[in-house]
Amino acid sequence: MHADQIATPTGQDMKRGSEMNEISIINDGAIYVEDELIVSVGKTDEVLAELRRKNITKFDQVIDSTGSAVIPGLIDSHTHFLYAGYRLNEFYERVSGSSYMQIMQNGGGIQATVDATREVTYEKLKQLGLQRLNEMIEQGVTTVEGKSGYGLDQETEIRQLRVLQELNLAQPLDIAVTYLGAHAVPPEFQHNSEEYLNLMIDEILPQINEEKLAEFVDVFCDEGVFDYEQSQKLLEAAKKLGFKVKMHADEIANLNGAGLAANIEATSADHLIKISSEEIAKLSEKKKTVATLLPCTAFCLQENFAPARELIDNGCAVALASDYNPGSSFTCSIPLIIALASFKMKMTMGEVLTALTLNGAAAVNAADKKGSIEAGKVADLVLLKYPDYRYLMYNTGSNIVKKVIKSGKSVFE
Ligand code: NIG
Ligand code: FE
Repeated sequence: MHADQIATPTGQDMKRGSEMNEISIINDGAIYVEDELIVSVGKTDEVLAELRRKNITKFDQVIDSTGSAVIPGLIDSHTHFLYAGYRLNEFYERVSGSSYMQIMQNGGGIQATVDATREVTYEKLKQLGLQRLNEMIEQGVTTVEGKSGYGLDQETEIRQLRVLQELNLAQPLDIAVTYLGAHAVPPEFQHNSEEYLNLMIDEILPQINEEKLAEFVDVFCDEGVFDYEQSQKLLEAAKKLGFKVKMHADEIANLNGAGLAANIEATSADHLIKISSEEIAKLSEKKKTVATLLPCTAFCLQENFAPARELIDNGCAVALASDYNPGSSFTCSIPLIIALASFKMKMTMGEVLTALTLNGAAAVNAADKKGSIEAGKVADLVLLKYPDYRYLMYNTGSNIVKKVIKSGKSVFE
């Protein structure tokens, strides 16, 4: 493939602090792909010379993307895209000032989606998932993280995870699967969250582990949901079984969730709207945890935005994701994420690109395979309608994706 510009972060690990702004730019570049992998990338004449030296002169397919910039496939590293039922009735309540927690306490919120998801068939759930994944591909997403958490009982949680696993094989996008049984305390355990915690630890996690249904375990650590000690207990048990862990941390209230995430070396700490300076220092010092920011959620809940500048300026690794779900962020819009990150969180264009690619890959434990355009990585590529990646930010709120290649194959144009 030849392109006007190849723009990518580089490396096998998350980018921290000022490194996030370092984007490799190759003007008049070419990418040579064999099967699923990138074999070589560089200036067009250099790549062609290298191929001639190796006696490679015939290609199955040549893509001429003159007029386009090429960037790595985007990674939406935090979503709840698999659910049934919508919560349209909550929209205006939220707009007119009811808080997320008020809506939840009045019987709406997560529990409303749990009720609908418990009712739906396996096939219907799969079909809903497919529709939503298609919407993501059109925006250049090639890897998405998807959580359970709308069943809460063992049977429905397992069904959600099985559908996620099946979807992973049934369509082109890669899905990183997360068990989020600790999304809310289910009604059956309303006054006994400890018992629910023990059920997850003693029965559900071992089953998920045995059947290899999830790679990550997540918890909603917040006021009225799971506290610091409960989150710690669950995630330590998960780690013991070999799961990687993630956290919904410091979203509505500060319970020192990000501090816990840093201490237990979680793969990511997500939301962070209410993160403290001490927690930022700890994330920066420990270096193991990606700070995943979800600006569409802050926007839809009319909250402040997470302190992206303070995080990056203090050396943290920031990823951006949609948090796509039927309540707090009913959108998987990449253009909206980019617009909010740029205008409201003051991230630079390089930082935004890194946050949606290499750092997103790190947030799903895949930075060694994805998130940049380099030899040896999976050929997940997005061609844009403009010859410079910075149009992603400049062309505010617009989807400028022209073509998407997943594992070397064209999946959208
Ligand atoms: O990340 N914070 C908890 N969970 C989701 C919202 C899920 C829902 O409202 O259905 C979030 O915002
Ligand atoms: Fe979430």
